[in-house]
Amino acid sequence: MGKKKSVLDLMKMKEKGEKVAWITAYDFPTAQFAEKAGMDMILVGDSLGMVVKGYKGTVPVTMDDCIAHCQDVRRGAEKTFIIGDMPFGSYQSSSTEAVNNAVRFLKESDVDAVKLEGGRRVADQIKAITDAGILVMGHIGLTPQSSGQLGGFKAQGLNPESGRELIKDALAIQEAGAFSILVEAIPPELTEFLTKKLDIPIYSIGAGLPCDGQLLICGDMLGMFQAFTPKFVKKYANVAEIEINAFKEYIKDVKEEKFPEEGHVYHIKEETKENYIKMLKEF
Ligand code: KIV
Repeated sequence: MGKKKSVLDLMKMKEKGEKVAWITAYDFPTAQFAEKAGMDMILVGDSLGMVVKGYKGTVPVTMDDCIAHCQDVRRGAEKTFIIGDMPFGSYQSSSTEAVNNAVRFLKESDVDAVKLEGGRRVADQIKAITDAGILVMGHIGLTPQSSGQLGGFKAQGLNPESGRELIKDALAIQEAGAFSILVEAIPPELTEFLTKKLDIPIYSIGAGLPCDGQLLICGDMLGMFQAFTPKFVKKYANVAEIEINAFKEYIKDVKEEKFPEEGHVYHIKEETKENYIKMLKEF
């Protein structure tokens, strides 16, 4: 793989109409595999709360959780553009808190950018983080951290009124200085409108084809996350099935003494065998 990806590469991709393919990752091996596969970006999402920690939602995830997982992912994907997701409670209360926590992401885990959820209500925070010299991605539509207010994990912008609000949010995010926006679970017509109307890249998760790139949660696309699968997910593998079958086979082998085999053990060297047996007999 060549040089490290920067925001300029992402802008060039938009200009050329080349789609950005990205996933979430939370650990070293997944990050390594994503980089080897040629993934354009990685999001270390606070979805780690559900995918890795087994929480019901993202709200309990802390700054320390996110920083630790960003560090693991950076070690696995040194050249990939990595985005750290600001967890619930790390940016809502003030611009100062938002800047301090965004700075932590860069200093402690060497990510390239941060992402935060919300539109006009977090425009001040986006501006403050941008003014501090940090790249920010906006995130509107289905925003999991405020899924309680949305009445659950539900598609957004399906009627003209809520579509209008999302357009206003997107314009405010661009105006505040974000380098891109992730739109989640909105209709493709609105995604296409935003992609044409705004200058910055618009990326989709569950928001259709007409935009600058697609994101999927690794646990969903690999078939590892078992709690539920959103409509917009395409499963590219069934890793859960592969793991369960491997574990079952191993259990059977152990019970039937078929593992370990000859090639899995460390033998005493022929020339020391006699002395070794003597030594064992001493006890
Ligand atoms: O945390 C995450 O993975 C996200 C996605 C749902 C977009 O923010």
